[in-house]
Amino acid sequence: ILKIISSEAFLLLIFIYFLSRISVLAPPHLQAMAGLPFTLACNITMETGEVLKQVLWLDMANKTILHYQPDKNDHVTKVDGVELSQQTASQQAHTSVITIRRAAPANEGCYQCLFDVYPTGQQRGRTCLSLTAMVEMMDNKTVVSGKPLTLSCKYVLSMRVRQVLWKKTAEQGDTATVASYVKNDRPIIETPFKGRITLNPSLGQTKLSIHQAQTEDEGCYTCEFHTYPDGIKSETACLSVYVLPKPEASYVTVSEDIVEANCSAVSRPAAEISWNVEGHNQTLGPAVTSFYQLGDGTTMVVSSIQMQAELLDDELVKCEVRHQGLESAIYVSLNKYRNFHVIPISASCVALVLLICLCICLKRC
Ligand SMILES: *[C@@H]1O[C@H](CO)[C@@H](O)[C@H](O)[C@H]1NC(C)=O
Ligand SMILES: *[C@@H]1O[C@H](CO)[C@@H](O)[C@H](O)[C@H]1NC(C)=O
Ligand SMILES: *[C@@H]1O[C@H](CO)[C@@H](O)[C@H](O)[C@H]1NC(C)=O
Ligand SMILES: *[C@@H]1O[C@H](CO)[C@@H](O)[C@H](O)[C@H]1NC(C)=O
Ligand SMILES: *[C@@H]1O[C@H](CO)[C@@H](O)[C@H](O)[C@H]1NC(C)=O
Repeated sequence: ILKIISSEAFLLLIFIYFLSRISVLAPPHLQAMAGLPFTLACNITMETGEVLKQVLWLDMANKTILHYQPDKNDHVTKVDGVELSQQTASQQAHTSVITIRRAAPANEGCYQCLFDVYPTGQQRGRTCLSLTAMVEMMDNKTVVSGKPLTLSCKYVLSMRVRQVLWKKTAEQGDTATVASYVKNDRPIIETPFKGRITLNPSLGQTKLSIHQAQTEDEGCYTCEFHTYPDGIKSETACLSVYVLPKPEASYVTVSEDIVEANCSAVSRPAAEISWNVEGHNQTLGPAVTSFYQLGDGTTMVVSSIQMQAELLDDELVKCEVRHQGLESAIYVSLNKYRNFHVIPISASCVALVLLICLCICLKRC
């Protein structure tokens, strides 16, 4: 019985539809992304004998934002930021599509399209526009230890934001709240971050500033906008903290004419070390690299290479240290340690000669 009733009801609906001749078609609701263009469309179908004289578009305040007369081509009157992007007319139908250049909070509301049809009269369509937005977060960042940095995040529909929250997820996966801000209140910085971090009092463009980055600041930061009625909108970016290497090189004589040279660098992440004499026929095998994790999150890398001592006389022996945080490699020369011993000796020889000359001179005079 129910089946029969419902199918009868359906037929009745179709009947009513054709009788009442719904001639303007427009989607009742539309969602647009803030900052992007959006289009509104209306279709009208007419019966034979009806003529479309004019098309008008009204905004939420019933102000005309665009109008034209289909039979007078190319004559469109419009306000700034609104374009007629399509008008297609066939014998008994007309489609009108307008584009609004940039969806802003002021564009929210119900728009109407009015078709002046002769002789029937005015037909209307109505579309209500609501806005939505995405959180705009900066990309992943790297900072050199000890330097300041700011993480920023933006939600353009700031009037809907009730609270801003920053959370940090450390490498181990545990998440902690760093700071928060509620309208008309002071930003709150959680205890472990107090004094080192500040938050600006803004619900739209939020900025979390770290005064001096430390290795423990590394992790992923999420900005959360608690909005009404859109709920929580969030985005995440990760921060890497670099400690730049200050490499050192030295060598010891292991046997009569063999020396072992070491080049070491403490950094985060680990540096890459190589030697310009690797593969030289006066070296004894390739360099050996060792890694030592230090307690403060840095890694010490030591590269050792053995060579014949005379190589230091023949060639400039350098170790090359590369690191993601450096624009170019750092070179540390080994020979300078050797020269360092030579220069004082030769200098003292010269001084001695001068002294002797002086003595002889004094004696004679
Ligand atoms: C209007 O008609 C066009 C084709 O003429 C169609 O693509 C469009 O989806 C229609 N729009 C509405 C709101 O019915
Ligand atoms: C705009 O026009 C519609 C229909 O004519 C009316 O219901 C509505 O109240 C008007 N809105 C404003 C803001 O004047
Ligand atoms: C940012 O870093 C995280 C973690 O290191 C990574 O998963 C993500 O893909 C990175 N995003 C971009 C855009 O590079
Ligand atoms: C070079 O490094 C190795 C391993 O770290 C260490 O055992 C050795 O004593 C170092 N030699 C020099 C000359 O510093
Ligand atoms: C190393 O190579 C050079 C030429 O590249 C050659 O003159 C020299 O004799 C070689 N030395 C040894 C120890 O093989």
